[in-house]
Amino acid sequence: SRLPALLEAMPKAELHMHIEGSLEPEMIFRLAQRNGVKLSYASVEELRKAYAFTDLQSFLDIYYAGASVLLTEQDFYDMARAYLDRAVADNVVRSEMFFDPQTHTERGVAMETVINGLHRACVDAEREQGISAALILCFLRHLSEDSALQTLEAALPFRDRFIGVGLDSSEVGNPPEKFARVFARCRELGLHLVAHAGEEGPPEYVWSALDVLHVERVDHGVQSVRDPALMQRLAKDRIALTVCPLSNEKLCVFPRLADHNIRQLLDAGLVATVNSDDPAYFGGYMNTNFTRLFAEAPGLTARHAYQLAFNSLEASFAERADKERWQ
Ligand code: HPA
Ligand code: ZN
Repeated sequence: SRLPALLEAMPKAELHMHIEGSLEPEMIFRLAQRNGVKLSYASVEELRKAYAFTDLQSFLDIYYAGASVLLTEQDFYDMARAYLDRAVADNVVRSEMFFDPQTHTERGVAMETVINGLHRACVDAEREQGISAALILCFLRHLSEDSALQTLEAALPFRDRFIGVGLDSSEVGNPPEKFARVFARCRELGLHLVAHAGEEGPPEYVWSALDVLHVERVDHGVQSVRDPALMQRLAKDRIALTVCPLSNEKLCVFPRLADHNIRQLLDAGLVATVNSDDPAYFGGYMNTNFTRLFAEAPGLTARHAYQLAFNSLEASFAERADKERWQ
């Protein structure tokens, strides 16, 4: 059978996507108009032209500007429903969506506005389209740990509406151990723990995500190949890496998709998965990540495809009974 057809049809879980990174330029302009927010781009075309990134920070600057159009609960609902529609079309059966509350609360949007809008979208998509959807609250690592602790406190009244916490934004210079206390508190609360590490940052950041924060999965983690002892640790403990091929290409983590190391990760026995990260900014949703990766990176076979889909379901925080039904 044709590999692209298999890639598209496989039931899969998405474990690394930022819901604010699903805002398409058209929706940014529609919400700006609806809310009377002034954008520093004149048109959809002009905004899209600015999506020429050289590294993570050059993307984050534009990503936070795009998120400034989100003000009401309906905005958060509409954004998440649009993403979940796209995910269903790509045969995503489970999605664990990151959201960045500080990006919104720092602008005066209430925590409950953010969480209620996103949660209602998850509930409605699950009922109407059958996709299983959950939320992971991310702390912005360029801000202080005190800000993260305050954010956690503000979110705790909605503890039943998110399944875990993560760590995102500017990696280099903001190592995982900066957030040791807030992650310890989240661990006591029984929240699932993940963190971005080893996207641009060194293997040492992956080690401290594991040993200081006690994360269950590492987001990106592709720099781990530079440290053989770390590779052994990730394989032994079956720590999943949520890899994002098109993101890595767009942010110049690898010069070309053909140079991506995901086959090396899989062949070393690591639990690698494929994810879209910020699909509106990086050139595609889940199935485009799979089809472009398999078209361009050498040596990937149907066996790798099956392994990636299996890994994604296995590494998800879904109930065991759901995983068995999907696998
Ligand atoms: N890395 C770090 N922070 C982010 C990303 C990413 O890929 N996407 C959105 N916030
Ligand atoms: Zn990410």
